[in-house]
Amino acid sequence: MRPRWLRSVGISIGALALCSLFYGHHYSSLISAGSRTPREGVGYDLPSKSLEWIPAVSHGRERNREQTETLRVQRPSKEQVPDTCPTSLQLRVKNDSYFNTLFNFEVPLLLWNSHMTERNWDILGKRPVPYGWKDLPQEDVASTLKLLNDSAHRVMFRRQGPQKCIRCAVVGNGGILNGSRKGKEIDGHDYVFRLNGAVIKGFEKDVGTKTSFYGFTVNTMKNSLISYNEYGFTQTPKGADLRYIFIPSDLRDYVMLRSGILGVQVPSGYDKGDKPSVYFGPKPSPRKFKMLHPDFLLYTRERFLKSDILNTKYAGLYMPSTGGLMLLTALHSCDQVSAYGFITPDYNRYSDHYYELQKIPLEFYANHDMILEMQLWGRLHDKGIIKLYKR
Ligand SMILES: *[C@@H]1O[C@H](CO)[C@@H](O)[C@H](O)[C@H]1NC(C)=O
Ligand SMILES: *[C@@H]1O[C@H](CO)[C@@H](O)[C@H](O)[C@H]1NC(C)=O
Ligand SMILES: *[C@@H]1O[C@H](CO)[C@@H](O)[C@H](O)[C@H]1NC(C)=O
Repeated sequence: MRPRWLRSVGISIGALALCSLFYGHHYSSLISAGSRTPREGVGYDLPSKSLEWIPAVSHGRERNREQTETLRVQRPSKEQVPDTCPTSLQLRVKNDSYFNTLFNFEVPLLLWNSHMTERNWDILGKRPVPYGWKDLPQEDVASTLKLLNDSAHRVMFRRQGPQKCIRCAVVGNGGILNGSRKGKEIDGHDYVFRLNGAVIKGFEKDVGTKTSFYGFTVNTMKNSLISYNEYGFTQTPKGADLRYIFIPSDLRDYVMLRSGILGVQVPSGYDKGDKPSVYFGPKPSPRKFKMLHPDFLLYTRERFLKSDILNTKYAGLYMPSTGGLMLLTALHSCDQVSAYGFITPDYNRYSDHYYELQKIPLEFYANHDMILEMQLWGRLHDKGIIKLYKR
């Protein structure tokens, strides 16, 4: 146990970090009961008819080519085998008249070198971060994307065969996991996604130990290292099989990713002087890094998490949460998805995070819409598309 004064310094640094992150705008008044008018029973909109979601590149072809190659090698000759996992969430989505209109499994999920085209620079260059490259120096974006030239940058993982169902667990950091004893179940999945302040030591029985993907923005990763240090988040997850998923929320993410792959100190900008080895281990293989596509971020906002906050003066701050983005990433790459540590309607019963020493209530800020996310996870669970951990 640390001395009380040290803990309170830790918390105020954390609070400071949060303030700079959210510009201090507290959102609880906006979100208080009554101000949110439920729409059409489910509480969120169908995709807008006017939504002009233009894929920046035709992505399906690349992805299909990779899958076809895998299938060609592994498909047993003559035998009739289904192309996909027979219990895949894709089939459940197809079966559901509501979610069928939201999901587009052809959306570009990851960003890689061949996305650096003149056409993309025109389209993405008009959208502000995190949905595009507006105001970012072209040389920073181009030099980063150039390094994403391996097949590992184009897919989340390789499929082992057409019939194998890929089962993923996405572990949020919610207080509901305290005492859950779900560690073994979580580790039993093919891939485990974690994010931000993912404390493991001391909570193995509740959250497991396996980490296949760690998702973050450089801002949330560094804030987590400061704010949750006192709870044991003293370093980012590391491991031979671990992959880092960058959410490109601003220039910092492009510059850090480039420095991480090149294995050099961050040369300029907000994180100047940072050693990427601190975050990603010494001499990480370039194949350890992936970056989400700005189109995917826009798609998640427009189709799944089109918050009322977008109609307020806080619109520019709003984006889906890191946990929400990781869960949607899993939904667009795995066959079966279980979500642990995500917000449920009884969130008042739990602390903000599973590792706090005393109960700290969940706070709402203008940059995310946790109530909307809660409704989405609940609805996906009710439709059998995800398995959401509840108590
Ligand atoms: C699709 O819906 C039909 C009819 O409701 C049901 O019988 C079938 O099991 C569903 N399939 C999946 C994959 O959920
Ligand atoms: C990717 O680019 C780097 C640097 O330009 C180069 O050394 C490497 O061989 C390339 N990798 C592939 C798979 O093309
Ligand atoms: C975690 O669970 C334990 C046992 O139920 C409880 O005593 C403790 O207060 C919980 N921690 C928080 C932060 O809620």
